Amino acid sequence: MRQNREFKVRNEVKRHRTAPYVVTAAALIVTVVVFVAVRAALGGGPAAVTANNEDADLPRGGGPDIPAAASPAAPTGRANPYSGEAWFADPDGLLVVVDRKRALAPNYAPTDLVPLTSHGVPARPDTLTARRVIIDDLKEMFAAGKKAGFDYFVFSAYRSYKTQTWLFEYWVKKLGRAEAERSSARAGHSEHQLGTTLDISVEGLTGDVFEVFGASPAGAWLSDNGWRFGFVMSYPEDAEETTGYEHEPWHFRYVGREAAKIVHNRGAIPSVFIRELEELRRGARTAAP
Ligand code: DAL
Ligand code: ZN
Repeated sequence: MRQNREFKVRNEVKRHRTAPYVVTAAALIVTVVVFVAVRAALGGGPAAVTANNEDADLPRGGGPDIPAAASPAAPTGRANPYSGEAWFADPDGLLVVVDRKRALAPNYAPTDLVPLTSHGVPARPDTLTARRVIIDDLKEMFAAGKKAGFDYFVFSAYRSYKTQTWLFEYWVKKLGRAEAERSSARAGHSEHQLGTTLDISVEGLTGDVFEVFGASPAGAWLSDNGWRFGFVMSYPEDAEETTGYEHEPWHFRYVGREAAKIVHNRGAIPSVFIRELEELRRGARTAAP
């Protein structure tokens, strides 16, 4: 089924995300201002609630032929979230780089994971968890979606390193390594391990979510409006060369409203924007020429 995705994706309606990524001095200044605001907003940090229950966190709601995973042990430890390199930022920051190059440590798990359904967020299976810090905006997004006629639900959320190991191998067996690499992250490299990333589908969708969601009205609404609530599409259309992954119109990462607004206004690829922020933070770039 997933083999057909590329074909389907090519036939999707082109949307706003095709604008080129252009760095301007003005945009960088705005970036710094927003970065400071975002950091300030996150300064207090979310309340810590441990609920590492991601054992059923696989996209079974949308992918009918994906078997249940073995229950992995709960991740432990609060060490440096990155493997292999020093890191100096808030490990639970919303703008942590996780991509093909940068991996989270195997024992990294957020401390504020909560069950989605117990916070009134539709999710299947109902054991899915995500970070508490995303819940309020997620509920607002789903409420706005409902007003627009779409009953969204989450079909994958937080995934531990161990679950991702299993899932990646599952796709390798199913699709072959080369194809799996395009659509599934290796363990440590998945944004799902952050607990701020969701795979979203909608009630009443006819067909496989991986094939039809992007071109559906519900997919278009989420693509157009997710940023208003702090959610950005990590793997936009026509960006595989940059992101390393095929277009995933169901996969949204929460970065907060301010950052999401910049990503939207610039037509930026989220991971590029987040790396730029990291460089600013390190002083590798200057905010203005
Ligand atoms: N499907 C995305 C790339 C992940 O596995 O995190
Ligand atoms: Zn995903």
